[in-house]
Amino acid sequence: MEKQQQQSIFPPRGLSGSFKFLVSFLAGCVFILVGSLSGNGGGPAEEAAAILDETVKPGGGRCDLTSGKWVYDNASYPLYNERDCTFMSDQLACEKFGRKDLKYQNWRWQPHGCDLPRFDARALLERLRRKRIVFVGDSLNRGQWVSMVCLLGSAVPNSHKSLQSNGSLTAFKVKGYDASIEFYWAPLLVESNSDDPVNHRLPERIVRAEAIEKHARHWTGADILVFNSYLWWRQPELKVLWGSFDSGDGIYKEVGMLRSYELALRTWSEWLEFHVDRSRTQLFFVSVSPTHLWGDEWGAAGGDNCYGETEPIAVEGHRGRGTDAGMMTAAEAAVAALRARGVVVQLLNITQLSELRKDGHPSIYRKQWEPLTEDQIAEPRSFADCIHWCLPGVPDVWNEILYAHIFSDTP
Ligand SMILES: *[C@@H]1O[C@H](CO)[C@@H](O)[C@H](O)[C@H]1NC(C)=O
Ligand SMILES: *[C@@H]1O[C@H](CO)[C@@H](O)[C@H](O)[C@H]1NC(C)=O
Ligand SMILES: *[C@@H]1O[C@H](CO)[C@@H](O)[C@H](O)[C@H]1NC(C)=O
Repeated sequence: MEKQQQQSIFPPRGLSGSFKFLVSFLAGCVFILVGSLSGNGGGPAEEAAAILDETVKPGGGRCDLTSGKWVYDNASYPLYNERDCTFMSDQLACEKFGRKDLKYQNWRWQPHGCDLPRFDARALLERLRRKRIVFVGDSLNRGQWVSMVCLLGSAVPNSHKSLQSNGSLTAFKVKGYDASIEFYWAPLLVESNSDDPVNHRLPERIVRAEAIEKHARHWTGADILVFNSYLWWRQPELKVLWGSFDSGDGIYKEVGMLRSYELALRTWSEWLEFHVDRSRTQLFFVSVSPTHLWGDEWGAAGGDNCYGETEPIAVEGHRGRGTDAGMMTAAEAAVAALRARGVVVQLLNITQLSELRKDGHPSIYRKQWEPLTEDQIAEPRSFADCIHWCLPGVPDVWNEILYAHIFSDTP
């Protein structure tokens, strides 16, 4: 587990270069399909009905959970203590690694016009009884999975928890409920040369944009699937392979980032269309997780990043340059096309609320897998992680939103 994380904590190679490149892509603003609650009654359990009531606006309209503000609330947050989470990751355990300002743990997301239902671990475990939920994607999705493991684990004695790892798949099992909460490493969703859960930092990124079966067979039959994929696509060009990695006669072609992402999303969509049992499977796609690499975006000095930031951004609607409008639109379009074919994927819009949390990243407070150089020590900003998120923290809120949808959207 540790080894696995060790290799994937750093942003993909050439990230800053590709971010710069991307600036040119960022024109106009984006509107992805809002993850509005589509609860229509008929919920699976009584508590689901109660939660639905809570999330539906008094006037009868659906509440948009993604539009709101952060409210300091140290009475209700954090939802668990970092040190009490049995399977916490050293990549995300900011307090353990020396962070002293702990307000980042105390913010509640307050949607305009309604409240997020409070996360009830036992209710969700009951919902997951004899079921499998699988998070599929990159290290950000893994962070959300760790958050879920902490949230659910807080309601279960240690003797009832276990973690099992087999290749790209890691499963948190809860005895008594016979529930399995899993993470599958597939940073580009489709096959790629970055699929090894340990050794995936390669100088050149190659994707087999039309092949997903090798991964998908590991999540076939899951009851709930939560996908993400974004950061690993962010380079000006990727090599797309037609043919197999093993045979010598594959055809390789440089393809632009957006186009290769669209190819992969099409492959993913087709897999869902033909392999998912629509009557019992809940599907989610998590939108872009924003980064805070450039202080000038929030009025700090140009060379600053998330290092030293202790407060959220107060400007509602703030949007950073790392958030690629074109790629968000591509994901929305894929989800809309699936819906037209009768496959409902709920887009979890975590982008906007996370844009405000420049204070929520590990920065320098996480395990360093390589010894720091003197230059780095002299300049902490140079090695600050402004991509992932501390736990407890922002991904807990992503899971509160997921929680609301699991109960209120019937498959
Ligand atoms: C996400 O929510 C924000 C704030 O409500 C909204 O402006 C944006 O259009 C939404 N984007 C997506 C992808 O739904
Ligand atoms: C919560 O914050 C308030 C105001 O900042 C402070 O006075 C109080 O001691 C804090 N309570 C806890 C439990 O940390
Ligand atoms: C690991 O997964 C492979 C299939 O990918 C399976 O054949 C093997 O039995 C699994 N090993 C364990 C210990 O579960």
